[in-house]
Amino acid sequence: MTGGAGFLGSHLIDRLLALGHEVLCVDNLFTGTKRNIDHLHAAPRFEFMRHDVTFPLYVEVDEIYNLACPASPIHYQHDPVQTTKTSVHGAINLLGLAKRLKCRILQASTSEVYGDPSLHPQPESYWGNVNPVGIRSCYDEGKRCAETLFFDYHRQHKLEIKVASIFNTYGPRMHPADGRVVSNFIVQALKNEPITLYGNGAQTRSFCYVDDLIDGVIRLMDTPKDFTGPLNIGNPSEFTIKALAELIIEQTGSNSQLVFLPLPQDDPRQRRPDISRARERLDWQPRVPLAEGLKPTIAYFRERLKA
Ligand SMILES: NC(=O)c1ccc[n+]([C@@H]2O[C@H](COP(=O)([O-])OP(=O)(O)OC[C@H]3O[C@@H](n4cnc5c(N)ncnc54)[C@H](O)[C@@H]3O)[C@@H](O)[C@H]2O)c1
Repeated sequence: MTGGAGFLGSHLIDRLLALGHEVLCVDNLFTGTKRNIDHLHAAPRFEFMRHDVTFPLYVEVDEIYNLACPASPIHYQHDPVQTTKTSVHGAINLLGLAKRLKCRILQASTSEVYGDPSLHPQPESYWGNVNPVGIRSCYDEGKRCAETLFFDYHRQHKLEIKVASIFNTYGPRMHPADGRVVSNFIVQALKNEPITLYGNGAQTRSFCYVDDLIDGVIRLMDTPKDFTGPLNIGNPSEFTIKALAELIIEQTGSNSQLVFLPLPQDDPRQRRPDISRARERLDWQPRVPLAEGLKPTIAYFRERLKA
């Protein structure tokens, strides 16, 4: 598991260990933290290796989950060249490893490959509307190029690949300072600080609780050999950013006020997955509604802020 010390990776490791697997977590701790995997150090089937995926990796494994990549704009724009390298060189290195080991490899791709979509909701067949030269391109285009590499290794080298197009996911262990909307609003609400909305807050997002996402990703890895994806995994229930802010204020009992700031460049107006293919191929759909998933997430941030 590359990126295993991050938010999604650490949950995926917990689930795989619970299923009886051995897990090697490979991470350079750029945005991930040992805190996310601290509870696993005594686990006999868990191993941590500090490594940057832009360099080749020589290990023996049966399956690869490639999650390494900073995922929030604040983090991926910090060193955009390294972000593209992580997606592109990282994909080449991990695909090379999978080729040598003849093992299955899953790519954590993103709904950002659809850019600012002209089609709504987004099915997997949609090719996207992505700015190739903007400040988000290092992430969006890096992930798109990684998908290209996955499919070329599949066609050229007969590699077994799985590509997950992951939509906005939230839950405990999100980075508190990553500027993502759910963590941002919760931290602001818990500190009773103003909640910052971009634009008029009418732009919509869909939010998938981490447990549902992990369930979908593992099911995708377990699909028959001929199924490659890309496959949308996310929660299709759509909320305006303003409605999310209001729900968080209510659940935290905060007295924060809403403030409205200008929209950042290339911020998509609408984002919602079409998950018909995941329903059909994985017999999967999200179960946790936003109002439920926010509770453990808020509890996590409350503890983090206390600490
Ligand atoms: N969380 C979401 O909503 C979401 C949505 C779409 C896609 N994804 C994808 O899922 C994956 C995990 O996202 P996350 O939310 O857990 O983010 P995260 O930042 O918490 O985790 C990413 C992990 O990758 C590690 N990493 C970064 N660069 C690396 C490198 N060069 N070598 C080794 N490790 C490196 C980081 O240290 C971190 O532990 C990412 O690939 C992201 O693009 C996440």
